[in-house]
Amino acid sequence: MARIFLAGAGPGDPDLLTLKTARLLSRAQVVLHDSLVGPEILALINPEAEIVDVGKRCGQASTAQAEICRLLVEAAGTGRLVVRLKGGDPAIFGRLTEEMEALRAAGFAFEVVPGVTAASAAAAALETSLTQRRTARSLHVITGHGAEDGLPAHDWAALARAGGTLAIYMGSKHLPGLVGRLLDAGLPPELPAVAVEAASLPGERVIRANLAQLPASLVRAAPSGPVLLLVGVALA
Ligand SMILES: C[S@@+](CC[C@H](N)C(=O)[O-])C[C@H]1O[C@@H](n2cnc3c(N)ncnc32)[C@H](O)[C@@H]1O
Repeated sequence: MARIFLAGAGPGDPDLLTLKTARLLSRAQVVLHDSLVGPEILALINPEAEIVDVGKRCGQASTAQAEICRLLVEAAGTGRLVVRLKGGDPAIFGRLTEEMEALRAAGFAFEVVPGVTAASAAAAALETSLTQRRTARSLHVITGHGAEDGLPAHDWAALARAGGTLAIYMGSKHLPGLVGRLLDAGLPPELPAVAVEAASLPGERVIRANLAQLPASLVRAAPSGPVLLLVGVALA
């Protein structure tokens, strides 16, 4: 059985942890967690475990991922039960690939444990289905933040043509540019758009707008927590 788990912590509400991850945390001997993982979830960790906030320790620089991989491999080498706890679902904008590759290269077996992703928590907050029969037949999970700290090179025209719901992670920083690309690609300015801050957490906030107004609405709201953006007719 694996001794190393790459597990999703969900969007923040501890009740949205999977039972599997909660059980693993109660037995873990080492937990390496992201900064977004809150105190109520950390309180579920075995009190004897070594707990490392790799978000804080490694900062936001792009080189930090290499250090996280190094720490993970180092922990795996001790033979203890290791949980690498990531916000949301580890397979969605979670740098899962790098960590799996590092473990494989070092010869360690591991298991991935899914989690509830932010878009699901945002949809629940809005009491909205992200897909709708006939009007929103697809869901596109995209990042608003490219690897080179700019706007990612999405095929904006294809996204606009698809007519589905856009779930945009890490979209706040480059939002004016992102909205500009979507409008240039043919999406209508009045298309419903919503920002959900801190979905599932006590500070949860919903900022409703249309696509053209979304950047200004978000600036006015001045969110301090993580923000998930949703765009499309499903949000009407
Ligand atoms: C590095 S990505 C990690 C996503 C995560 N793996 C997931 O599945 O939700 C971080 C981004 O996820 C979104 N996010 C994470 N938790 C959130 C929450 N509780 N409410 C709103 N957005 C959230 C924000 O867009 C944030 O910038």
